[in-house]
Amino acid sequence: MISNKRLNQIVHCDCIEGIGALPDACIPLTVTSPPYDAMRDYGGTKFQFEPIATELARVTMPGGVIVWVVQDQIVDGFESGTSARQRLFFETVGMNVHGTVIMAMKGCRYPRKQRYGQQFHYAFVLSKGKPRVVKVLQDKPNSAVGAVVANSRRFRNGDLTTTMKPKRIGPYGLRGNVWLIDAGNGRTTKDRFAYEHPALMPEGMAEDHILSWSQPGDLVFDPMCGAATTCKMALLNHRKYLGMEVHQPYWELACKRMELAKEAHQRQVLAILRQKAAG
Ligand SMILES: C[S@@+](CC[C@H](N)C(=O)[O-])C[C@H]1O[C@@H](n2cnc3c(N)ncnc32)[C@H](O)[C@@H]1O
Repeated sequence: MISNKRLNQIVHCDCIEGIGALPDACIPLTVTSPPYDAMRDYGGTKFQFEPIATELARVTMPGGVIVWVVQDQIVDGFESGTSARQRLFFETVGMNVHGTVIMAMKGCRYPRKQRYGQQFHYAFVLSKGKPRVVKVLQDKPNSAVGAVVANSRRFRNGDLTTTMKPKRIGPYGLRGNVWLIDAGNGRTTKDRFAYEHPALMPEGMAEDHILSWSQPGDLVFDPMCGAATTCKMALLNHRKYLGMEVHQPYWELACKRMELAKEAHQRQVLAILRQKAAG
């Protein structure tokens, strides 16, 4: 357990030291995005993947989840493959790959003639054993809403059955593992000043992972929190948060963003209380 006075803050530190000061098995959910290869220098701190991953696995509680959002850099014309190596390393320190979500951005930022433009990030959903919380989001609009259908299933030998019980199709179906994320200026976040950070995670991406792998009241951790997107979305979804950031200007940005998020959260709570009082 982490004492309450160490929660709900953004700590200015190198996360290797920060995570090192946490007890074993205390984190139910981490949503983080590390530096991608050498795409940005973030004030010059050398990114040490293996010690960070090892420590993250240690502090993750049984059933806890790490969402590791990453992308490969193109080096000398080829993909670095770093994301795949990182995913395999996590398995050596006791994490299982529960699944992979492709976070596809609407629109492509760098279309090129010599390759298809990079349009997605991987989100590796790593769990320590079976995840304790899985809430698959059900927001995929169904085009055949209202129709009654008997789904079919194909067996291993190729046979097909349609004997499954007929069901009426509701307005929304369960989401698949390709998520279309609204991102870009004014859509990644409405906090204009946050764009001073060069690699913001879209708020919708952080929020949907928080809703999928945690419940209200849980602690959500981001050891490389940048401008605190994960922490902000944790607070606004009634979770506790803990962020760490090594680079002072980004840490200051994160603190400023959390001050505004706390005010927004207060307004949210007041609105809920008023609604309850009204009936
Ligand atoms: C891809 S950015 C994260 C962006 C963040 N998700 C957001 O939405 O603002 C990675 C961040 O990790 C920070 N960082 C890199 N190494 C770190 C370390 N050892 N400890 C803490 N933070 C680190 C960088 O300064 C950078 O802000």
